[in-house]
Amino acid sequence: MKNKRTVLVTGGCGFIGANFVRLLREEYGDWRIINLDKLTYAGNLKKLQGISEGEMYRFVKGDICDGALVAELFVAEQIDTVVHFAAESHVDRSITGPADFIQTNIVGTFTLLEAARKSWDKGGTGEENNCFLHVSTDEVYGSLGSTGFFTETTAFDPRSPYSASKASSDHLVNAYFHTYGLPVRLTNCSNNYGPYQFPEKLIPLVFNNSMHGKSLPVYGDGKNVRDWLYVKDHCEAIVAVLQKGQNGQCYNIGGNNEKENLEVVTVICDILDRKLGLPESGQPRRSLITFVEDRLGHDRRYAIDASKIKDQLDWEPQVTFEAGMEKTVDWYLENQDWVREIVDGSYTKYYKQMYTV
Ligand code: NAD
Ligand code: TYD
Repeated sequence: MKNKRTVLVTGGCGFIGANFVRLLREEYGDWRIINLDKLTYAGNLKKLQGISEGEMYRFVKGDICDGALVAELFVAEQIDTVVHFAAESHVDRSITGPADFIQTNIVGTFTLLEAARKSWDKGGTGEENNCFLHVSTDEVYGSLGSTGFFTETTAFDPRSPYSASKASSDHLVNAYFHTYGLPVRLTNCSNNYGPYQFPEKLIPLVFNNSMHGKSLPVYGDGKNVRDWLYVKDHCEAIVAVLQKGQNGQCYNIGGNNEKENLEVVTVICDILDRKLGLPESGQPRRSLITFVEDRLGHDRRYAIDASKIKDQLDWEPQVTFEAGMEKTVDWYLENQDWVREIVDGSYTKYYKQMYTV
């Protein structure tokens, strides 16, 4: 097994992608990275500040649906590994505007698969070490009742336009393995949290609203359950799948941290009260919790059985929910400007100076 790789990371300016690029730069210095990102509203070059472009890292602003660009990158950069994060990722946006989800998540994945197939069929690059790792979600499995876990053999039952588009892309990835022998690997992961998450998602949204005395919207009865995983653990699982996984296999990744949404929101409020003292109102921040209309088709419970990746690849999460939430709140406290620039929209100035968007 060779150590050096040239990795096409798609969506490396997103939440998980940026944490992954940072992990590779810190711990896998001999892996070259080509970061292809369209810089949608969710992409932000500031997440990668401090990582300079050069022989080992290159940023390409572009769309994964652009077949000519993607094909050219495979050849010019001699890509042997793909870690495919780029996606439209927010369920609420998929309900109000599904078109971008179909385009990026399905057509974009298809475009990358075609480029990999055509490039690798010629046998020109890393041969037996070539790997197309598709990063997906547990949401493809649908919604659980109060018991049970998703395993790798659970039938797909996606219920939102987001999860349906991800399930479609997962099917395409598997089809390219069975039909063309493309060396694919698939991961289906539970909800991530940690630094650099766009503040439309539950945890950074609650942090930001509670810092500004705004109401904390909890959908429905707040009893929907998600299995939370600290983002660095997810990134390390992806490296384990690249290094030790098998082609054609799918690996579920989870945190073994099932929490009701209301508990997650309360934990953030209580950590902030402890670290900062009560706000001027004198009321604990949890008093800002407001139950709002439920999300359409809101999945009740997700829970991952991650025993396959533990038994076969020796991966398990290192960060407990309690420790991860402390680290996350500390990070957002230290990086309030980062959140503010997103909320007020000024973060786009950063790349508008460099690129036409
Ligand atoms: P994100 O929304 O934070 O980032 C997505 C990135 O993809 C952005 O940088 C965006 O600019 C880029 N992008 C979007 N469309 C593109 C296009 N057409 N071409 C090129 N780049 C494009 O998403 P995330 O939370 O980091 O999720 C990354 C991946 O992980 C997604 O595939 C998602 O389905 C999956 N996933 C996420 C979670 C989670 O909890 N966030 C859990 C499991 C799986
Ligand atoms: P989210 O972070 O959007 O992730 P996902 O929908 O992919 O699981 O939401 C996590 C949970 O929190 C989900 O059950 C919806 C709920 N939620 C709220 O209750 N209020 C909010 O403002 C948001 C954004 C989410």
